[in-house]
Amino acid sequence: MSHIYIHGTEPSEQERLAGLNRMTNTAFVEFLNVSPGSRVLEVGSGLGILAADVAVAAGVDVVGIELSAAQIAASAPADRVTFMQGDAHALNFPDASFDLVYARYLLEHVADPERVLREMRRVARPGGRVAVCENDVSLLRFDPPCPAFDRAWEAFTRFQATLGGDALIGRRLYRLFRGAGFTEIALSVQPEVHWHGSSGYAPWVHNIIGNLESARDGMLDAGAISERDLNAGVAELERLKTDSAGSAVFAWNRAIAVR
Ligand SMILES: C[S@@+](CC[C@H](N)C(=O)[O-])C[C@H]1O[C@@H](n2cnc3c(N)ncnc32)[C@H](O)[C@@H]1O
Repeated sequence: MSHIYIHGTEPSEQERLAGLNRMTNTAFVEFLNVSPGSRVLEVGSGLGILAADVAVAAGVDVVGIELSAAQIAASAPADRVTFMQGDAHALNFPDASFDLVYARYLLEHVADPERVLREMRRVARPGGRVAVCENDVSLLRFDPPCPAFDRAWEAFTRFQATLGGDALIGRRLYRLFRGAGFTEIALSVQPEVHWHGSSGYAPWVHNIIGNLESARDGMLDAGAISERDLNAGVAELERLKTDSAGSAVFAWNRAIAVR
């Protein structure tokens, strides 16, 4: 089974990921509740926008580990943030190196999420914390109903599985944390509730369209969906974006555990 990052690093995808950071970082930084003086590691740091926000908000040093050289090259330099290339499955740090180790939107893309969590646990100090925020795309709801989009979204979910990922991994967090050796674990959700006229509505719908578009070439090449059906799903969401009766609900799955 191959393990290919479904979203890629095209400029349109980088713009989508940056927009998603603008929508979700404040709530996630609050969730992390970083103490001053903490040594912090982000695993799968992407464009580094979240790491920079954590460093500024808490006044701490953050190390970002990222597999893709393209993502590191696209990360803007930020005070108190260091980016290093590495694989989440084999973190290049001694045991007990950090007070807080977190990952966001990473486990859905990796070959062995439990091993990644074991690594995150290993590099956290005893009494330190490990936190994640992940996707379960089945929790996404739009109204009025969007059946063509729903079909495209299911094809996207199946396609991510063929790449070795799991777009539904959010529901498995408790089991994965237990498997990785944690016992003191708390689950929570970070809600996305948007409606036409609310400031987050158009950016949220745009982000979901961007998810599909980031995987367009891969899905078509693999025969995961026909171009006609994919276009129909995207067009339905484009219409929903301007529908004065449109609304959207989703919840990110989060887990935080003590080492
Ligand atoms: C959706 S992005 C999230 C980036 C960032 N955490 C955020 O919240 O904006 C996921 C990132 O994980 C990286 N990634 C995927 N597999 C990885 C691995 N095995 N080790 C480290 N990074 C990985 C991808 O290259 C991508 O940049």
